[in-house]
Amino acid sequence: MSTVIRGGTVVTAARSFPADVLVEGGRVAAVGPGLRGDDTVDAEGCLVMPGGIDPHTHLEMPFMGTTTADDYASGTRAALAGGTTMVVDFCIPSHGQKLMDAWADWDRRSATAATDYSYHMCIVGWSAAIRDEMAEVVARGVTTFKHFMAYKGALMVNDEEMFASFRRCAELGAMPLVHAENGDVVAALQAELLAQGITGPEGHGYSRPPRVEGEAANRAIMLADQAGVPLYVVHTSSIEAHEAIRRARANGQRVYGEPLIQHLVLDEGEYLNPDWDHAARRVMSPPFRDKRNQDDLWNGLRAGSLQVVATDHCAFTTEQKRFGRSDFTKIPNGTGGLEDRMPVLWTRGVGEGRLTPEEFVAVTSTNIARILNLYPRKGSLEVGADADVVVWDPAAQKTVSAATQVSAIDYNVFEGLHCTGLPRTVLSRGEVVVRDGRVQAEGGRGRFVARAPFTPEARAARRLSDLAAPRAVVRP
Ligand code: URP
Ligand code: ZN
Ligand code: ZN
Ligand code: ZN
Repeated sequence: MSTVIRGGTVVTAARSFPADVLVEGGRVAAVGPGLRGDDTVDAEGCLVMPGGIDPHTHLEMPFMGTTTADDYASGTRAALAGGTTMVVDFCIPSHGQKLMDAWADWDRRSATAATDYSYHMCIVGWSAAIRDEMAEVVARGVTTFKHFMAYKGALMVNDEEMFASFRRCAELGAMPLVHAENGDVVAALQAELLAQGITGPEGHGYSRPPRVEGEAANRAIMLADQAGVPLYVVHTSSIEAHEAIRRARANGQRVYGEPLIQHLVLDEGEYLNPDWDHAARRVMSPPFRDKRNQDDLWNGLRAGSLQVVATDHCAFTTEQKRFGRSDFTKIPNGTGGLEDRMPVLWTRGVGEGRLTPEEFVAVTSTNIARILNLYPRKGSLEVGADADVVVWDPAAQKTVSAATQVSAIDYNVFEGLHCTGLPRTVLSRGEVVVRDGRVQAEGGRGRFVARAPFTPEARAARRLSDLAAPRAVVRP
């Protein structure tokens, strides 16, 4: 069986051109004019793009005393509804748990995935055993390790642990990721605010100012430089963190930054809303920022100093958020966005002249495919690539509403935002999984995508640091 996606404009990160796309055996078989297949997907008036990749999700994640409400079944269907055909989720071991045992837990969760997925492995402590187990994780196809510099007393690691892990990543050709916030300072500010009687969600924003993120980003960047390894800074939300990344890149370091769609369009004013539920639903870390930061993040995407737009999809219901009714530090941290990332980014990005369609493809798919060593199998429409394709209707419109969303939660942080530009048809490995905007994918059809270590960048960073390594002076 073959399918031809006919009559559209193919948009890649490099260029746009009118062409049909022929899909055979789940892969792209040809791109060009006048192609024929057994089935036809009409793309007249539409753009044909590589499916979105969201490299930052937390599906069915146990966190802050509860578990995120979107599991792999609802979360990956929400992803597909928004044109995202692959997610990379965080596998988080509990303290003392073997990394491969945590991986097995995540495999049980991901058995219901409706589209393809990979994992990042989290390092939440340090030991000789973890050091050894990292090699097995890499051998099985997970080549990225996440470090939380915040969540003191829970997931946070200290500099000694982080540096040891970064060095191990360098040896293995893996890449460290960091949640950059100074967890000690956050904990001190939280205690102070509570003592002052600030117990509502506004305290969340006050307890995590931008400099706390900037300091941690700078620290992680220096540690990565010393370890001779590339670094990926997740949910880059502030001018300070962006500045650290931009400076490191200008100095020749391989550092990547990932703004979230939430930080690009929502601001700190949300936490001052008199409705407690409204404000608490928007509690996530790092918090939403002053609007000045938004312009800076958009500029970074354009300039190339920031490469990827993600969601950090970590969806809790209103009821779950209410665990923190009398203490903002107990409000489960996280917001949704999987379904909204591409439509909202298109609307505010391409629709308002901040991004070109080609840049949109780069920051939603191609760049992260390269960074994670998935390219060109994912993130491209090259012959031989997995046929993960979005037929994008730039004229289609909707107003974001929890009432019509696929995600399992009872609200949407983008509620009321009017989008122009939506997926019409989505294919995952050649199978039509969204037709006329409706998801028709079976849970369990998603596959784990293994990744190889030693991207060209990891290899180069390793070589550079080997050449600069200290050597004893040989004296007669
Ligand atoms: O608030 C957030 N971001 N929740 C998810 C966990 C994390 O920090 O990524
Ligand atoms: Zn984080
Ligand atoms: Zn996260
Ligand atoms: Zn996060």
